[in-house]
Amino acid sequence: MSQIKIFDTTLRDGEQSPGVNLNKQEKLEIAKQLERLGVDVMEAGFPASSEGDFQAVKLIADTIKDVSVTALARTRKEDIDRAWEALKHTPHPRIHIFLATSPIHMQYKLKLTPEAVVQQSVDMVRYAKQYFEHVEWSAEDATRSDWDFMTSIIEQVIDEGATVINLPDTVGYSTPEEYGRLFNYMKENVPNIDRADLSCHCHNDLGLAAANTIAAVENGATQVEGTINGIGERAGNVALEEVAVALHIRSDQYEFNTNLKLDEIKKTSDLIAKLSGMYVQANKAIIGRNAHAHEAGIHQDGVLKNAETYEIITPELVGVTSNTLFMGKHSGKHAFKDKVKEFGVDLTDGEVKSIFAKFKELTDHKKEVTDDDIYTLIMETKTEHSAISKYSLDTFQVNYGTSNITTATVSLYTPAGENVQTAATGNGSVEALYKTIQELIDFELKLLDYQLNSVGGGKDALAESHVQLRVNGETVNGRGTAQDVIEASANAYINAVNRYVFKAQAAKSEEVVNG
Ligand code: KIV
Ligand code: ZN
Repeated sequence: MSQIKIFDTTLRDGEQSPGVNLNKQEKLEIAKQLERLGVDVMEAGFPASSEGDFQAVKLIADTIKDVSVTALARTRKEDIDRAWEALKHTPHPRIHIFLATSPIHMQYKLKLTPEAVVQQSVDMVRYAKQYFEHVEWSAEDATRSDWDFMTSIIEQVIDEGATVINLPDTVGYSTPEEYGRLFNYMKENVPNIDRADLSCHCHNDLGLAAANTIAAVENGATQVEGTINGIGERAGNVALEEVAVALHIRSDQYEFNTNLKLDEIKKTSDLIAKLSGMYVQANKAIIGRNAHAHEAGIHQDGVLKNAETYEIITPELVGVTSNTLFMGKHSGKHAFKDKVKEFGVDLTDGEVKSIFAKFKELTDHKKEVTDDDIYTLIMETKTEHSAISKYSLDTFQVNYGTSNITTATVSLYTPAGENVQTAATGNGSVEALYKTIQELIDFELKLLDYQLNSVGGGKDALAESHVQLRVNGETVNGRGTAQDVIEASANAYINAVNRYVFKAQAAKSEEVVNG
């Protein structure tokens, strides 16, 4: 068996999914879970793209010890300097420099000649080597590039010290046979290729990302890049869980394995879905809600007689457990503390206290509190940011009836600490509520997306709402949980408003710092 390195880019390419914007605390929680999952490399962001991204990469780099942390950079000195600034305290830093090599990108996007693309790549790999022992160089849009041009540029960047060569299928255009042949060609035609790892990076525009990735691995790729749940730009990146489980289950066909702890997959997937607001489709391979369910009578009968009749992946392999009943009203603090430890999340005493208080409040309305509920409370507490608690909901009431005009009354605290109230009508409960809140907020809010999900099952399940707003040209997401669906919707809306306020304040202080 040969070992394939897993390079996770959920926090960089995944975060480029339309509508996803994670704050630094959320990114850190995801990074810690990726560490528990056992990825070899995590791409924490693109530090030169914004102060927020720089801070998030730095926080992750300063915290994560057992995984190599990397960051993206263009072929510019200032990007490389910024990446080093963010990564210099992590034990295993690396940098990921990219430049497009396809004729269409070089001519129209970069407006650079092929010679200039070679020169910039060589110069910037050399520049990066003064800081980083590990330098990855990516030929953006490799699958639409000239193969002989690539052999020449790859040879030169390896001579400058590039330790990983990545050949991305940036627009998800390739096919398994063709992508495999590309890797084979580079192995055969780049004289110094043995001095670098070859990496694959597949987008899923044609739904071929997993097949293309496996084809690359069979033809010499020693590193696989992708995201959890396959989130990413357009149709997303390859889903790492699909590749890792396919290699494992079909080890009769493939002689490759990964360091991933497969039973951490479900937890990682759930966390990313929850924090990004990109929920996984029910029939998604490996971790979809239906992936381990057997509906047809004939299948159920078969599974009862011998699970292997229709089940090639046991739920336990990927960490899917029956959502065990956790605790109820009478559970004590000690038992609660022990239970919380099982989730593997580091919590301070203050955080445990706050989660316990939320748990007690929940048990007033919910008889049976499940693991999913507790995990939701933990993540709510871990990702709460005092700096973004700018508007806060005081009280609200919504009157809805099939023959009434729906009316909402809201009282909230503004960032200045003032208590303001008003009432408005709407076509339904959520519309009336959001219209009323809008009247109390200084800037205009445009609702782009609204989602409502239940955490676990049952009539008394917690409700989790995700919204996406457009505010002054910025897109912001918000998340809210509550026992009641309307309250969860209100919390998500206010959370999005506060994220906007936080972003606007951060941008203002950046302006002051930069003059
Ligand atoms: O898809 C792509 O080409 C990328 C590069 C930045 C590596 O994400
Ligand atoms: Zn990509």
